[in-house]
Amino acid sequence: MINIAVMGYGTVGSGVVEVIRTNGSLINERVQDEIYVKYVLDLRDFPGDPVEEILTHDFDTILNDPEVAIVVETMGGIEPAYTFVKKCLEAGKSVATSNKALVAKHGAELLEIAREREINFMFEASVGGGIPIIRALNSSLTADRIDEVIGILNGTTNYMMTKMFFEGADYAEVLKEAQDKGYAERNPEADVEGHDACRKIAILTSLISGQHVDFEKIHTEGITKITTEDMKYAKKLNMAIKLLASSKRVGDTFSVLVAPMLLSEEHPLCNVNDVFNAVFVRGNMLGDAMFYGSGAGKLPTASAVVADVVDAAKHLHRNVVTRWDAGELELIPNAEAEH
Ligand code: HSE
Repeated sequence: MINIAVMGYGTVGSGVVEVIRTNGSLINERVQDEIYVKYVLDLRDFPGDPVEEILTHDFDTILNDPEVAIVVETMGGIEPAYTFVKKCLEAGKSVATSNKALVAKHGAELLEIAREREINFMFEASVGGGIPIIRALNSSLTADRIDEVIGILNGTTNYMMTKMFFEGADYAEVLKEAQDKGYAERNPEADVEGHDACRKIAILTSLISGQHVDFEKIHTEGITKITTEDMKYAKKLNMAIKLLASSKRVGDTFSVLVAPMLLSEEHPLCNVNDVFNAVFVRGNMLGDAMFYGSGAGKLPTASAVVADVVDAAKHLHRNVVTRWDAGELELIPNAEAEH
């Protein structure tokens, strides 16, 4: 039996428990062992919820239990997630997280700790929700030099802009809808100001360059100034407005940008609507590829987290190398000019 603990029982954390409960037998068959959720950590109580019996309010219960081999972190935010994850890794427990803020800021350090301990730090769900883009870059496309990544990486804003474009919907109303559907961050400013997409493109650029990208140095504009009038003009031009996160190789470095951009109808990203995300990738051998799917929401995101749990369980005492060194990559300044 492989015991796991889930830290944070919000939208994604409860989805993780649901995915394991629903698909338990096929997951166990794939691992050739039994994945068992031993603890759920949350500050709140959940009376009547099936996790009531395994609920703990004390992180040390998880940390000090040698039977817990894999920990899921779905709390979000930097603290206490960073402290908890670091302690788990240092104690020899693999970690799977959906927390892009944590990965963008501390990914290099946490990967290094995992490498030293021959365990794993995995973060498939941190970019693109249920789309397998991290594993694709790390594994399937590892023979390529990746020259360009352009993504619609935020489900909330894509959902909002789709409704504004096709239905002339009101900004505040559609934001509320995205929150009700469980797509938006706790503080939706992270979505609409572009910060969430910025952290995600920083993670992707760190992976394809192998060096740490400081997300604070990425030029980032959100969608707060986009109106339904702008949408009407775009439509007249046979175009759409999308919040794009773009990273282009320039010599040994990258030009990275997050901003709403006009896209012509023929562009493959133009037809990515609702909560869907897509990542267009250009490799020097591969040519072009596009990854498309549910970019946010409980079960798609939880599915990606549980895939990491399965992978960590299959490699319990072997590190799956992810190249992302701590040395900072100097980005091209004035990225707007390049895109
Ligand atoms: N708030 C994020 C989004 C959740 O809307 O894409 C998934 O990372």
